[in-house]
Amino acid sequence: MHIAVAIDGPAGAGKSTIARAAAAKLGYIYVDTGALYRAVAWYVVDRGIDPQDSPAVIAALPGLQLDLRYIDGVQRVFVGERDVSDFIRTPEMSMGSSAVSALPEVRDFLMETQRSLARRNDVIMDGRDIGTVVLPDAQVKVYLTASAQVRARRRHTELAQKGEQMTYEQILADIEQRDYNDSHRAVAPLKRADDAHLLDTGEMDIQQSVAALVALIKNSL
Ligand code: C5P
Repeated sequence: MHIAVAIDGPAGAGKSTIARAAAAKLGYIYVDTGALYRAVAWYVVDRGIDPQDSPAVIAALPGLQLDLRYIDGVQRVFVGERDVSDFIRTPEMSMGSSAVSALPEVRDFLMETQRSLARRNDVIMDGRDIGTVVLPDAQVKVYLTASAQVRARRRHTELAQKGEQMTYEQILADIEQRDYNDSHRAVAPLKRADDAHLLDTGEMDIQQSVAALVALIKNSL
């Protein structure tokens, strides 16, 4: 019996950074499920399909061979034999993944990939619907969040360090829009599972957040 830790929460809460570090400390594999939705977007765009064109996206799915592989413990996403991990982090793929992730056919298509990883490994899996839909029997569920203002402030600092110009108000508006989209879609909306622990990282830095998550997992097992 493998251990499954489900981490859900809104965009920009630091889930991937915190979950990845906690997985390394515990010796579990870290599964970033957002990368799967991004890879679907990459695949359709590569075939000249608009991610908003739902019938065309659905029709293309049977030809998609998607795989998560772990190379030196780092997750890489493959479409067929092509490693697309570095191509899926663009704003175009963020938008595209958001569009395709609203389709039940896409969500069903990705379900088995996610569940089979959890059957074969001890995992920390992060996403939007892991504790509610993908791994409802996970031994530990965490809803990791911070207020929209805190997330916007962090993102603003991050972008400013990269020399990118975006006002705090613009970033906050984007975050509030994405929160709304994620929590109001018809299928697998973002919501805290009844049995999920709430971890609010608003007052914590990354190290403190990782320590809090690891402690929460250890205390729950
Ligand atoms: O987490 P990330 O931003 O990489 O996710 C990309 C997209 O995939 C988001 O738009 C998110 O709504 C969607 N997603 C999802 N369910 C998951 C993980 C991500 O719908 N389990």
